[in-house]
Amino acid sequence: MLSTNPTRLNPTKSNQISTIDCKNKWILPGFIDCHTHLVWGGSRSNEFEMRLNGATYEEISKKGGGIFSTVQATRNASEDELYVSASKRIAFLLSQGVTTVEIKSGYGLDLKTELKMLSVIDRLNQTFPITVHPTFLGAHALPPEFKSCPDKYIDLVVNTMLPQIKNQGIATAVDVFCENIGFNLKQTEKVFKAAKNLGFNVKLHAEQLSDSNGTALATKYGALSCDHLEYLSEAGVEQMAKHDVTAVLLPGAFYFLKETKKPPVALFRNHRIPMAISTDLNPGSSPIHSLNLILNMACLLFDMTCEEVILGVTINGAKALGIEDSKGSIEVGKDADLALWDIDAPSDLCYLTGLTPVKTVMINGLIQ
Ligand code: NIG
Ligand code: FE
Repeated sequence: MLSTNPTRLNPTKSNQISTIDCKNKWILPGFIDCHTHLVWGGSRSNEFEMRLNGATYEEISKKGGGIFSTVQATRNASEDELYVSASKRIAFLLSQGVTTVEIKSGYGLDLKTELKMLSVIDRLNQTFPITVHPTFLGAHALPPEFKSCPDKYIDLVVNTMLPQIKNQGIATAVDVFCENIGFNLKQTEKVFKAAKNLGFNVKLHAEQLSDSNGTALATKYGALSCDHLEYLSEAGVEQMAKHDVTAVLLPGAFYFLKETKKPPVALFRNHRIPMAISTDLNPGSSPIHSLNLILNMACLLFDMTCEEVILGVTINGAKALGIEDSKGSIEVGKDADLALWDIDAPSDLCYLTGLTPVKTVMINGLIQ
């Protein structure tokens, strides 16, 4: 169990340096989980059972379930309730060697609840040693009250939510779900334009369930990453390569939704596109808290090598967040975010599923 009292490895009064015995162990950069939705209210276990009886994710969403049911529960939850449930999730990630996590809003879909979620995310950042990157995902789904006028909701995101969030400084990036059950290209572009004008980084949930051409649009707006990408075309891959956009692959959602179309990993390789891997931790499409299991899935479901997968949660995870100058590898001048593993080889982290042999985690030079 990791201690809650961080200590610094500094020379003591007697000029002695505290030491950690690393014999027969591996030190790796702290892991970066670059795409999560880990603040949410309620549960979707009933939908899991509906899916076991044959309903699809899209059908459930179209009937008002899916993201909408989490929106209802998140609107009804107090800030403290959301903080307590999210704390358990983030603490578990920390215990698996995660030192940086990105967390999206997007289960509020009204100004009050989006701000409440971002405030919970900020509180997690203040109270946990993990570095938290907050992303505003107001354009995650169309809230029921805007069913007949989707463009009006986009106006609310652009004219009211984005400026307020900018003023409060509680998000650094803006994400959109560009999909037939999310937002179309025109709506996505409106959000990106406004976000870039305000100085936010942008990223996109792109080509997860269909090829909507979102990736090409995101590359035009200098997106840090495009995420999911199962239905991405070769033309889309070429655009990503041209604009140096990181591909964030989410095998948990692929697995949990029983998707059969794999993201074009071989094309990403050929075009030298950095591939990041993440949990996508959320109640609907990837309620999977184990990063170790996600690493294993990336190997077996997406045909990635152990090396690619470990790069995916270190330096390429950093690229997906635009923080590769300070995090994601062990180098002089970078933050001392490290994990000490009791393993024989790094590939054990992909191979020994269910075991999390972290011995010590250091964040910013502090032992956790
Ligand atoms: O990354 N694709 C959209 N958003 C999430 C799912 C959210 C949910 O179902 O609650 C995802 O898969
Ligand atoms: Fe997601």
